[in-house]
Parts: sequence; structure tokens; C-alpha cells
Amino acid sequence: MKNIDSFGHVRGESLFVDDLITRADTLTGLAFDSPIAHGKIKNVDYSKAIGVVGIVKIFTHKDILGKNQIGSIISDEPLWAIDEVHYVGQPIAFIVAETETIAKRARALISIEIEELPVITTAKEAKEKGSFINDPRSFKFGNTKAAFEKCDYVFEGETFTNGQEHMYLETQGCYAVPQENGNIKITSSTQGPTAVQKTVAQVLGIPMHKVEVDVIRLGGGFGGKEDQATAWAVMAAVAVQHLKKPVKYVLNRHDDLRMTGKRHPYESTFKIGLTKDLKIQAYEVEFLQNSGASADLSPAIAERTLFHATNSYFIPNVIATVHSCKTNLPPNTAFRGFGGPQGMFVIESAIAKAADELGINKMKIQEVNLMKENDEFPYGQIATQVETQECWFSAKEKFELEKIENEVERYNKANSNSKKGLSLMPVTFGISFTNTPMNHARAMIHIYQDGSVGVSTGAVEMGQSVNTKMLQIASDNLGIHPSKVKLETTNTTRVANMSPSAASSTADLNGEAVLKACNTLIKRLKKLVANKLAVTYDVILFKEDVVFTGHKKTKLTWEEVIEMAMLARISLSEIAHYATPIIHYDKTIEKGHPFAYHSYGTAITVVTVDCVRGIYEVDAVKLVHDFGKSMNLGIDLGQVEGGLVQGIGWMTMEEISYNKKGQLESNALSTYKVPDIFSVPREIKVIPLETEGNEMAVLKSKAVGEPPLMYGIGTYFAIQNAIKTFNKNYQFKFHAPFTPEKVLMSLYVK
Ligand code: MTE
Ligand code: HPA
Ligand code: MOS
Repeated sequence: MKNIDSFGHVRGESLFVDDLITRADTLTGLAFDSPIAHGKIKNVDYSKAIGVVGIVKIFTHKDILGKNQIGSIISDEPLWAIDEVHYVGQPIAFIVAETETIAKRARALISIEIEELPVITTAKEAKEKGSFINDPRSFKFGNTKAAFEKCDYVFEGETFTNGQEHMYLETQGCYAVPQENGNIKITSSTQGPTAVQKTVAQVLGIPMHKVEVDVIRLGGGFGGKEDQATAWAVMAAVAVQHLKKPVKYVLNRHDDLRMTGKRHPYESTFKIGLTKDLKIQAYEVEFLQNSGASADLSPAIAERTLFHATNSYFIPNVIATVHSCKTNLPPNTAFRGFGGPQGMFVIESAIAKAADELGINKMKIQEVNLMKENDEFPYGQIATQVETQECWFSAKEKFELEKIENEVERYNKANSNSKKGLSLMPVTFGISFTNTPMNHARAMIHIYQDGSVGVSTGAVEMGQSVNTKMLQIASDNLGIHPSKVKLETTNTTRVANMSPSAASSTADLNGEAVLKACNTLIKRLKKLVANKLAVTYDVILFKEDVVFTGHKKTKLTWEEVIEMAMLARISLSEIAHYATPIIHYDKTIEKGHPFAYHSYGTAITVVTVDCVRGIYEVDAVKLVHDFGKSMNLGIDLGQVEGGLVQGIGWMTMEEISYNKKGQLESNALSTYKVPDIFSVPREIKVIPLETEGNEMAVLKSKAVGEPPLMYGIGTYFAIQNAIKTFNKNYQFKFHAPFTPEKVLMSLYVK
């Protein structure tokens, strides 16, 4: 089935926040943010700004009637700064004006005096100065000390991965409209409608039922709107509370880039020990996460880094520690993979380092350490239905790895100014919110009396096509044509207390709820039909818009059944709730079974490096991915391709740059390079793993949103191998992104 949004998107008819028809008296909001990364606010002079014709009011922390607090995991983030600022871009005030132009003019007239304090921009500096978000966390498994002593080889090293800008096409934004009796309705571009509702209620000092949040769809989120869509909606809501007029705030690209957090940069150190047979016996890793100025989602992201510290490998002795380091950057946040990619890069680097030192191919070490059935993860979960080796070996076989290796070798012998490099990247990614209580969802289905159906869920459509999947599940299980089903907007008054759409779990959680609601409705209708046709309940089937008895098609249509149900006063509405079974986790001992299942795959990457210029091309990424029994392969392949390219961007060209004063230098698309059509691999081939699927995934169709991003890590190591072929003196460095500048330096390092 096609993505239900495709027509609207192509024709430019799909609605986003900025497309909403606004009320005639709508005002525009604009945040005034700190120009300084760290300091004490001595004075802010708003007098000139207020004098601009068309300015309605400038809001500050003094106008907050509830709590000036928006931190979701830790209460460490004011909506508007009071007397200190902690990053460039931190909101201090909120200008409300008749138009955006007027608001901008006024913003330029605000003058601020700040007594500057020392600025920390890197995680290492923060650690040295004892600047942390919270206490460190460690996963301990086996006994590394004893294991290292028995190892034949021990290697140590350090790694760096930079941040990554989400660059959703649609910037952050919201539209808040006053309703009767002090109620407020907010349309927001958020992955977490309930987070917005709850935070608005807290800051305004009103109950949650007075706040309705509606989400039509997002022009991309990628994690950047899991937590960080909230602040803008709250600002607009405060203004609505005071002014009783609608307020719209859609950030321009510059403001969005400056004020929002990104993927967390990590500085890490590792120690890896192997025996002669290349089995990894011990692994110690310390992650320094650059969390930014407040917690945001950092603790949860740090946790997922630990969960993925050993990627697809079984290592019997592990210590993994993570420090969330407080710096003077915008609070960094969720980004596809949620800390997992940062963890995986380090173990892949450690293996590459060991292979380089031993003068062997990295694949050899990877291959002998892949997880197998019933191996234990360092966090205590026993791996079942493991497809790690299946993916690895079927990638080797189906894509004829030996042939690829020979071609690379032949090419490298024949060419002195350009070299090819090859790598394999296995991925094992845990599916479920790492925080067990978040793994639940609800769906509400109405069958209208003409037989058409409306489905509301807690799922937010952000381009991943979750609405198409929900529609498919509903139409399949009600036995009606997809055109009879409509996906409603995501709205807190129809589905309450949602977890954000994140953790790749949206389709699983909400899909299971849709499935349950359909089953309940069908049961009701079957009883009715059994009576009417005088047949047993069990033989009735709803299919192709009619009733079947046994395998016989009857004349009774879906519409007739619904009419009968109406007359018989049977409820045609249902709300269902789903909570993932089995999962649990005990943070006090760092053991449990946090994931419903894992998603697996292996990617083969071939690159060509131009050894004169340092530029490179990705020739091909060929991968075997475990979709389970995909319910929509077109959509799932789109997720693999998009995720892969986003991962390659992170590993190769996307270079976030803050200067020593904490100012974002890569603050536009001219200074921050995202992958374009010329930088995608010339060839992407995806073969779905042949498998029965997993019962814990909705309809056995596995979650696919985040895992493919990590295939992009393979590109880093393929480039590295090409460089080594050209320059034997090159010492492996693990410092991403591998920009052409860095490649060029590595090619000629003595
Ligand atoms: N795909 C598109 N097109 N746009 C997005 O914003 N977000 C990614 C992934 N794929 C995203 C996307 C992220 S970070 C997550 S967690 C999942 O989709 C969320 O959706 P799912 O849970 O339905 O997979
Ligand atoms: N992924 C995304 N968001 C989250 C998670 C996760 O694993 N845990 C808590 N919030
Ligand atoms: Mo995705 S980073 O869990 O929104």
C-alpha cells in the first residue's frame, strides 16, 4: 500500500503548522535569546523595543503564573532565564507583536548587559571541572580486570563523534488559540503531544484538561521534536493566557539552528582485550557525553549508549561508564538512534584499532565475536531469536563478498591516485523505550453509521509513514477497503497520556492498540451477525467489505452490518490500550530485560577515495536487514535508505562547529553540509532477511525507524581502509565526521 500522504505531499496540499488558516486577530511570537554562552544578567532594557508600533507585549519569567520549569527528566531548565544564562540561544523573553517583521525589529532593539563567566564547550573540559548533569552510570558484566590479565593482546584508544543537526524540513513551531473558560488549544509540531500539554499546564498553573494539543503531522522530527518542540508551545500559551488572543510562533531556520540542541557529541576512551583466536575477552569504555546546559533527554540517551556499547558482539567481561557532562551549549537531545550510534562507533573503533595493530582485516575480529542465541547482553537480557549471524553471513553470501574484495584489490593495484575501501557493519538495536513505564499506547476507533471509520492513536506522523501502517492494520482487521478508513490528527483529547512518538516503537505500540480495538469491535459485530444469519459465531469473517460464513461470501455488506448495529444500539466505538509485556529493568543493579526484541542487520560498504583531493564517493552500500515480516516493504525500505544516508551524513560531512565562546559557526546550510543527491551512495541494495518475524512486533513486522542509521558507521571504516591502502604510515584515528579535509591530511601524514 502506498503512503497515504504521498498525494498531498507531492501536490503541496498536506498541512503543517505554518499552513493553518489563522484567526484574523492572530499575533506573532518571537523569542529573545542570550547572545552570551555563560553569564549573569545585569540588566535588560526593553524600553526601545516596547516603543515599536505594533508590539503588544514582551513576556519574561515574571509573567509566569505557574512554574518557570520545562525540564522533563530533571527539573533544571527554566522556560525563560531569570538571572543567569547558560548557552547562546537560551530564551530570556518572548516578544508578541502584530507581525513577524515588527517582532524582529523590536528584538534588535533590546539591549542586554551580561557579566560573562567562563564557558565550557567540550565534554572533556566539563569533566575536568566537575561539571555534570547527574551521577555517572555504569554497566558491569563479568570481571574485566581478571580477563585483561589473560588476554594475549590489549589495545587502548580514544574516539570522538560530533553532534548532528536534525535539519527537519519544517522548523519548530506552534499555533495557540484561546478557547472559552480559559482553555487553550495548541497545534504543535511535536513528537510528544502529551509532553507539550503537561508542560503548558505546569507553566501556566492550570490543569491538563484545559490544554488541548493537536498534531497534524511533522515535516520531520528525527528526535529533535521529542522534547524540544515543547518550549515554543509553552511560550505561545503563556502569551495566550495573558492576552486572550491567538499566538503563532514558527521559528526561522537561523533561530532554530541557534536555539535548539542536536545529537550529543561524545568523547570516549576504550580498552579492548583479545585472545590469540581473536575472541574479545574484555572491553572497558568510558563515554563523555556533551549534554549541553541542561538535562533534556540526556540521561535517557546516555542509558541507551550503555545498552549498545557492545553492538552485535558477545563480550563476556565489560565495564561501560557514561558521564553526562554539563557544558554551555544548547541542551543536546534525541536524534535517531538515541545515543546508540555513539556507543556503537566506539566498539567498532576498538575492533578497528585491534585489527590494525595486528595487521589483519577488521572483519575477522567482527565475525568471530558476533552474538548467538542465548548469549547474555551486559545488562542481563538473554538474546533470543538472534539474527546477527544470519544477517552477517547472508550479506556475505548474497552480495558475494569475496568478489567485492577481489574487485577492490584489483582496483587498488591498478590505481595509484585513488583507492577503494571496504567495511562490514553489523547492527543490533534494542526495540522499546529504555524507560519501561513509557511502553504503552492507546487507540480510539469510531465506526460511523455509514460504515466509514475514523482512527485516532497516540502516533505522530513525521514522515516515517506510521499513519499508513495504522490505516493498514485497521482496514485489514475490520475487513474493509482502505478508502473507508481515515487517520485522524493526533490529539490529546482523543488519546490521553501518550508517550512521544519515538524509540522506533510508535507502530508497535499504537499498532497493537489499533489491532485490539478492531478485534473488540469485530467481536461485537460477529455476535450480531451470528444471530441474524443463524450461524455460529466462529464461522463469520469480515473480508472485502462483506461478511463471509466459512469461506462463503454472503450478500451481507459491511454497511448493512453497521446499520443493523446502530438499530440494535450496539456501540460502534472502542478505545484499546496496549502495554508491552515481558519487559522490565532494575536500575539499581543495571540488569533486566528492557527490550521487547532486537532489530538486526549487516551492511557492506565500498567507497572510493580520491587520493589527490581527499574527496570520496560511496560506491555502494549493500545490506541484509531484518524487517521481520514487513507489513509494508515500500515504507520500510524508505526508512532504511533515509536512515542510512542520515548516518553517512553524520559520519562524513555534517560538521557542527561551536567556537570557544559557544557560538554556533555552522549556523546555515552554507556552512553545514547535509547529504544531497550527489553524496548518497551510487547504489543502495537492501535484501530483507528471510525470517518468520517476531511475535513481539506488531503483525511480526519489526520496528525499522532508527536501526538503519547505524549502517552509516560502516562508511567511516571503509574510508579509513582506503586511506591505509594509500598511506601505510597513517595511524588509525577515530574522529568523526571524516570530512574531506581530514581525509586529505590522513592521506599525507608521515
Ligand atoms: N523518518 C522520517 N521520514 N522522518 C522522521 O522524523 N524519525 C526517526 C524515524 N524515521 C523520522 C523518520 C526517528 S528518530 C524515530 S524514533 C522513528 O522514525 C519514529 O517513528 P516510528 O516509531 O514510527 O518508527
Ligand atoms: N528512545 C527514545 N526516547 C526515549 C527512550 C528511548 O529509548 N527512552 C526514553 N525516551
Ligand atoms: Mo527517535 S531519536 O527516538 O525520536
